[in-house]
Amino acid sequence: SNDYRDMSGKRKIEYDRWEMNAKNLVINENEKLGSGAFASVFKGNLKGKNPLIENAVNINFALEMNENIENEVAVKMLHAHADDDNRADLLNEIAFMKTLGYHPHVVNLIGCVTSLYDPLLIVEYCAYGDMLKLLRKHREDLIPSEEGKKPDDPPEFVLAMRELLSFAWQISDGLVYLSSRNFIHRDVAARNVLLTKRMVAKISDFGLCRYSEVALYTTKGGKLPIKWMAIEALKQAEFTSKTDVWAYGVLLYELFTMGDTPYHSIQPTDMSDYLLAGNRLEQPNLCPDEMYELMRECWAERPEQRPTFEQIRQRIAAFLDVSS
Ligand code: ADE
Repeated sequence: SNDYRDMSGKRKIEYDRWEMNAKNLVINENEKLGSGAFASVFKGNLKGKNPLIENAVNINFALEMNENIENEVAVKMLHAHADDDNRADLLNEIAFMKTLGYHPHVVNLIGCVTSLYDPLLIVEYCAYGDMLKLLRKHREDLIPSEEGKKPDDPPEFVLAMRELLSFAWQISDGLVYLSSRNFIHRDVAARNVLLTKRMVAKISDFGLCRYSEVALYTTKGGKLPIKWMAIEALKQAEFTSKTDVWAYGVLLYELFTMGDTPYHSIQPTDMSDYLLAGNRLEQPNLCPDEMYELMRECWAERPEQRPTFEQIRQRIAAFLDVSS
């Protein structure tokens, strides 16, 4: 909170509306939802007055959570061995998410705890977890059309082509939002898409996200998503919304292969030569021609030849219309 004086000189305290009281938060360390190099995400319960009523830009989102009951949340916290750089990174991610604003296809911030030594980032809980795991789990269920649906299959466990296309559209919608705000995500991949209990796809993990037209990226020992990176990102460490477009094309490949690892026979160090020689991922068996054409355009060598996320979203919408 910040101390300041109003025009009459009275002392006022301005509270950060995102700052949660840690005593209302219960973190379930037995339910780990994900983990990275310096932080893990656990399931949690946030009790009491609904912070989203105050924070929500969109009232429909606020209504998802109830006042005075235990709200399911996901909490990102540092590992015990995390250092001050890691702590600064998590504080940066929190600060970044505060500026993001609400969007239905982005994993939204619920609040944070930064008054303790170790900061906590609290976001929406997405019951179905990450899309890559879900795709791999349901490989056998993928069917090209509704007719192939087995009668006993619970509807939520059958991923028909239409659901895959719907995920593709929702993710492009989230990325239209990010790119319109000049945010470069830099780690667009199926593992960073989460699915809610209503099977809504949301972009997550803003640890690498930057606000800029172009971001130059050098790592301090961090892992780079080499096989999702555009040629100019591999060569010059140059990231723009068009490098996110390239990564989105690789995400479509993951989607239509039900979670195959891209370029599985190519060494990461050979990737830029491989791509510069004109090689690209092959059309997956179940991938419609229209969608493969779109993927190929996302992998144009020159960034300006790639479509924008608006164009991508429009193309998928048009394809969903004709294939319904
Ligand atoms: N894994 C990482 N973040 C998550 C979230 N918000 N909900 C569910 N699983 C997650």
